[in-house]
Amino acid sequence: MSAPAARPLVEIRGLRKSYGQTEVLAGVELMVAKGEVTFLIGPSGGGKSTLLRCINFLETPSGGEIIFDGERLCHEDGNLFHHAPERVLREARARMPMVFQHFNLFAHRTVLQNVTEGPLVVQKRPRAEVEAEALAILARVGLADRASFYPAQLSGGQKQRVAIARALAMRPSLILFDEPTSALDPELVAGVLDTIRALAEEGMTLVVVSHEMKFARHLADKVHFVAGGHIEESGTPDRIFDAPESERLKSFISSILA
Ligand SMILES: Nc1ncnc2c1ncn2[C@@H]1O[C@H](COP(=O)(O)OP(=O)(O)OP(=O)(O)O)[C@@H](O)[C@H]1O
Ligand SMILES: [Mg+2]
Repeated sequence: MSAPAARPLVEIRGLRKSYGQTEVLAGVELMVAKGEVTFLIGPSGGGKSTLLRCINFLETPSGGEIIFDGERLCHEDGNLFHHAPERVLREARARMPMVFQHFNLFAHRTVLQNVTEGPLVVQKRPRAEVEAEALAILARVGLADRASFYPAQLSGGQKQRVAIARALAMRPSLILFDEPTSALDPELVAGVLDTIRALAEEGMTLVVVSHEMKFARHLADKVHFVAGGHIEESGTPDRIFDAPESERLKSFISSILA
């Protein structure tokens, strides 16, 4: 007898987002299983960042349904769009932090303060426990000796690893990455990719927007091609990169290989 299929960690149905008259997400369907590494690829302006930001409610969607770890964050009832109370959204967001292209660290706080801020302020956990855990996490991302530095004293790659440490300090269920290496000098990319790879190997659930196609091919369990505000094609990396079906994906793949 086979075990019942586990419920996905993230279930997204018919997700829409408009800015004024412009529909940026036009009905996204996406499931993310626990422990899965999902890559979102696609042309500029296709809606990848907006989708990430709607998943954890940094942006409020305009319609559709998001269920996170069995809890419904938003849904539609007839024509009415409802979302969970702010407290529920804040707690959900803390469990699915985002790592940004430009790091978004607090410039006037040390590395350690950057990492402990969320657990202390948002999660209201005890300082001694939070600081001990933060130091262990900094060691894990190779920054044990940088705890008292300020962001301006770090390389781009180190800053991004602080941002990853900050996400880990939230004891996340899922980490969202929006082009985590695209602002880095080429020689700093590998260190950040190694850190992300280690998270994947430890079983962390990751949703990654990236233009690092080699990295996507090696690490992804699933790749989704986002274009024109919806997911146009999905599959294993081999399927998406070696046997694209839609004309749009074919031309995207040939443009990035060119
Ligand atoms: N705050 C906003 N107000 C109005 N339009 C927006 C806003 N944010 C995004 N958009 C529009 O939504 C569309 C999708 O943007 P988004 O940033 O999600 O694309 P993307 O796939 O992440 O692109 P890129 O690869 O360049 O980062 C774009 O046309 C963009 O101009
Ligand atoms: Mg983007």
